[in-house]
Amino acid sequence: MTQIDLTGKTAFVTGSTRGIGLAVARALYAAGANVAIVGRDEARARAVAAEFGNRAVGVGCDVADRAQVEAALAAAEAALGPIDILVNNAGLTRDNILLRLSDEDWDAVLDANLKGAFYTTRAVIKGMMKRRAGRIINITSVVGLTGNKGQANYAASKAGLVGLTKSVAKEYAARGVLANCIAPGFIETDMTAALPSEARAALLEGIALGRLGRPEDIATAVLFLASDLASYITGQVLVVDGGMVI
Ligand code: NAI
Repeated sequence: MTQIDLTGKTAFVTGSTRGIGLAVARALYAAGANVAIVGRDEARARAVAAEFGNRAVGVGCDVADRAQVEAALAAAEAALGPIDILVNNAGLTRDNILLRLSDEDWDAVLDANLKGAFYTTRAVIKGMMKRRAGRIINITSVVGLTGNKGQANYAASKAGLVGLTKSVAKEYAARGVLANCIAPGFIETDMTAALPSEARAALLEGIALGRLGRPEDIATAVLFLASDLASYITGQVLVVDGGMVI
């Protein structure tokens, strides 16, 4: 059985102080990678990184702010070395039916979920091109593929990530940079904790494997796409949803 070994690689995982991002960071770290824990709260990011060990560093940034993104990437690279693996995981929801969706809620979601990934990708791509190697893994959502009532802003941001990923895959394949998306279904995290129990039960009905997802289910998929095992895969959307959307 081939082992995944990321020793000597450096990963930058946005939104990794909790939830899916934290599980992704743990999986990459366990595989030997150096990992930058990235959160809006720098103190929290540092505390999480300290729990990991000396191959991790905590940096603070709001991914919707270009200057903060660039500073965080520079700090991570100074501490751990050039970024080999970028995981755009930071994301938020501001749900409402379109009729009541405010400009602010549209912008907040698009800025964090989509523009943030543009900022990080643009900042790391030059180095990856030079080294002729790099993995970019964007966490989208099944909702970006199917749409969802009450989530026009979120679905648009996640569908946008698919277009961004496919374009990056085409532009930089010749330079050894691979870009893919993972589309989680319903994963148990803070983001989904507020869902009423009836809605949760109804969702469960629609999941072929009969259980909600765990952050680790997404982390293992990221690990695979970051590894040598996935060196012939680019521009794809890997749906990890227990068979919710088939
Ligand atoms: P979460 O809410 O537990 O974690 C999201 C993280 O992103 C938080 O640490 C948050 O502080 C951070 N974040 C949000 N906006 C940010 C910004 N502007 N700058 C920096 N960090 C920011 O949610 P969860 O579930 O772990 O979500 C992770 C990703 O997975 C998100 O992109 C989400 O859209 C996606 N996803 C989650 C699903 C689920 O069922 N939980 C399903 C499909 C996709």
